[in-house]
Amino acid sequence: MSRAVAVVLAAGSGDRLRMGAPKAFVAVGGRSMVALAAAAAAACPDVDSLVVTVPPGWEDRGREELPPTKPATVIAGGESRHASVRAALGAVPDDADAVLCHDAARCFASPALFSAALAALADADGAVPVVPVPDTVKRLRDGIVVATEPRQDLGLAQTPQAFRAGALRDAHARAAAEGLEFTDDAAALEWSGYRVRAIPGEPGNFKITSLEDLARAELLVVHALEAIPHVESAGRPLGTRG
Ligand code: CTP
Ligand code: MG
Repeated sequence: MSRAVAVVLAAGSGDRLRMGAPKAFVAVGGRSMVALAAAAAAACPDVDSLVVTVPPGWEDRGREELPPTKPATVIAGGESRHASVRAALGAVPDDADAVLCHDAARCFASPALFSAALAALADADGAVPVVPVPDTVKRLRDGIVVATEPRQDLGLAQTPQAFRAGALRDAHARAAAEGLEFTDDAAALEWSGYRVRAIPGEPGNFKITSLEDLARAELLVVHALEAIPHVESAGRPLGTRG
């Protein structure tokens, strides 16, 4: 039987959001991003357990945010997202067949997207959700447009990304040996020569980076979050802590 572990990456500082707390601990609709993202992972029937990275010193707070429904390990992340994934791999059990890497900052991913990413591993080493590029894309050199890229060949990458555990461990070990870091884990597999399949992403699964994103997220929550079943198990609403 195949065993899948979801790594929820929540150890970033949120420099661009500048809300005074690590970004993943900022609330969206009264619940923290890490609580929402972990709840989505835990609500996926194909996920067996979670590993959650938080900024050093935030481990206890991190544990409070997790749903009680699946086993979860909270660890301190690294200096970069890449380093946090490496740290998380150290806490992923050796018998895991698949590892999902998911950004807490994408707190609206559905549990079904975790399942779809895992299912795509049937004929690939990795799977990445992508959405179409809405705008015309220009290649620039020193401020001059040198080409218009065919956008039908391009996709915007999301998380959760799913990987065969052995391939992810190997790609990260190779990257470490070369002193390389990647902004997502699919890139490490691509660079290592593994086969990464693109699957349809979700339009609402955007990454909260800026204040504008946070405002958009709050609007979405007002309209929809009450209707998302797994949100019920997402941490305690802020303001209800003892
Ligand atoms: N992340 C992480 N460890 C790091 C850096 C990032 O686990 N050292 C996580 C973040 O918590 C986030 C995801 O990786 O959920 C994507 O990173 P990003 O959107 O860049 O978040 P931050 O690094 O927190 O934001 P910023 O870059 O604005 O500081
Ligand atoms: Mg960052």
